[in-house]
Amino acid sequence: MKIGVFDSGLGGLTVVRAMTEVIKGAQIFYVADTKNAPYGEKTPEQILQYSLNITKYLINTHEIDALILACNTATSSAIKELREMYPSLIIIGTEPGIKPAIEQTTTGKIGVLATPATLQGDKYKQLTQALSMQKSVDIYEQACPGLVEQIEKGEIDSEETQALLEKWLLPMRENNVDTIVLGCTHYPLVSQHIENIMNCNVSLIHTGNAISRHLLSLGTQKGHFNEGDLQVHIHTTGTIQIQIIDSIIKKYENIHFIEIENN
Ligand code: DGL
Repeated sequence: MKIGVFDSGLGGLTVVRAMTEVIKGAQIFYVADTKNAPYGEKTPEQILQYSLNITKYLINTHEIDALILACNTATSSAIKELREMYPSLIIIGTEPGIKPAIEQTTTGKIGVLATPATLQGDKYKQLTQALSMQKSVDIYEQACPGLVEQIEKGEIDSEETQALLEKWLLPMRENNVDTIVLGCTHYPLVSQHIENIMNCNVSLIHTGNAISRHLLSLGTQKGHFNEGDLQVHIHTTGTIQIQIIDSIIKKYENIHFIEIENN
């Protein structure tokens, strides 16, 4: 199976890391669109166009059988159109894990950290509306502008990043939030800091494992055997922090710089 995966940058590698624990006998072609990052502060139209261009590249150059949108923001703006355009391709998106958070919380108070574009999107609003009918919980939504840039700059442990996280998280701590949804695939890269600020009294929800199991199930239905080596090829459209890649993924074949045409 050839699997295309994309995100605006390093974040989607947290999904690839989960995939490497489940998927065997496949090739992963990862695109980090760092030239256009962050997606979360772009318009839905721009994000859709980036997503279409990358998907065309992955289909034309790598002949992928499956596409993973390892980005909540791109899923919100583009998955519907991509599914309409490529009905025979396996397409899996990433959505904030509100459902598992609602199931797990004991205080009935959950936090959601996501990009501005994800929180403003119709998909997120429909998801929270449908789920809040099942159980009454208080949801503390927090857009995190600037956090993706900090991570992409390699500033995971900087004072500025710490100050941003404290500003967003201390109100959640005071309000007894016990479960936080990481609604952007970059945010698991600062999960240690989030846990520290919340005094470790928090469950963090991210959906990389669920996406990987779903991919395995759909791939198996289409004849994938899940045996043998897994290869990961990383492509980037701009600069990227290699030491962060190395801290996320144990083994990858290469890093290629690519230009993605607007077509
Ligand atoms: N990692 C992405 C997400 O899950 C995109 C973040 C961004 O570029 O703003 O939303």
